[in-house]
Amino acid sequence: MQLRRFLILAGWLVAGAPASLMAQTYAQADIQYGARLYAEQCTLCHGATGDVVAGVDLRANRFKRSTTDNELRNVISNGVPGTAMVSFKFAPPELTAVIAYLRNMRDFDSKTTLIGDPARGRVVFEGKGECARCHRVNGKGPRVAPDLSDIGAIRTPDALRRVIVDPEAQLRPANRSVRAVTQDGKVITGRRLNEDTYTVQLIDEQERLVSLVKANLRDYGLIKGTSMPAYGDKLAPDELADLLAYLLSLKGL
Ligand code: HEC
Ligand code: HEC
Repeated sequence: MQLRRFLILAGWLVAGAPASLMAQTYAQADIQYGARLYAEQCTLCHGATGDVVAGVDLRANRFKRSTTDNELRNVISNGVPGTAMVSFKFAPPELTAVIAYLRNMRDFDSKTTLIGDPARGRVVFEGKGECARCHRVNGKGPRVAPDLSDIGAIRTPDALRRVIVDPEAQLRPANRSVRAVTQDGKVITGRRLNEDTYTVQLIDEQERLVSLVKANLRDYGLIKGTSMPAYGDKLAPDELADLLAYLLSLKGL
């Protein structure tokens, strides 16, 4: 397997694989978030065009030692010892975004805005979007839906955008709602927190923590679909962009 991979890679290198085929493709929202982070933290040394540091041209993807995305991850997270290239403490989605931008600096289009203003996004979250009706942020709000306090540190912009536009298509096993029926016929629905072979713990609709022994249940299973509405048509593009900026600003307390 390893050998085969090596041979394929070697074949590519000999044949001179086109850059577009070697590089992973990144989503627009991730590239734009990366552009913002780059402007804030990298232009100081590398410049807006990415070619200020001698021997490194970020826009052209000419580096001194890195080739792959993983190597770039390493360089950015660890820095280059003995040089001005310091290490950066990015959360995984931020690192993905910065690399997405480096890989697309050349064709970056700053006119489209998929990521807006976090302060305005908070207004959408608590107001028109009614997100706060289900989601908890920094200790405020209900527990019936996943707590979003650190969502900006664990999900990429593109993943967040997709959930908001079409939550049905993005369900994560960890967040699923479950329905249990006890031996005496009581129906309990709620959000699953934990599950093992014998028991399940959930937050029920009255926000109580419930632990159930599966052997004592008449019926137990995942609820199909989600209670989260799809916002693709409910929010204007700029509202969506602001909301996204707000979610990305949530990185835990
Ligand atoms: C304080 C100045 C400084 C800042 C800020 C800085 N860099 Fe660098 N960077 C450098 C220098 C200097 C080098 C060249 C290091 C060397 O000589 O190998 C470098 C090299 C690099 C390289 C090339 C690594 C390689 O394999 O050759 C990458 C990629 C890079 N920087 C990305 C970034 C990103 C992304 C940011 C922002 C998050 C950033 N840098 C912020 C100074 C900086
Ligand atoms: C009626 C309740 C409800 C409303 C209103 C709601 N959500 Fe959700 N949301 C959920 C539930 C439940 C889930 C978990 C998915 C599932 O059902 O399995 C979820 C999942 C999510 C996730 C994915 C979390 C993860 O771990 O990746 C994000 C992000 C999210 N919602 C953001 C929002 C935003 C932003 C709004 C407002 C525009 C919103 N939600 C409105 C109920 C809601």
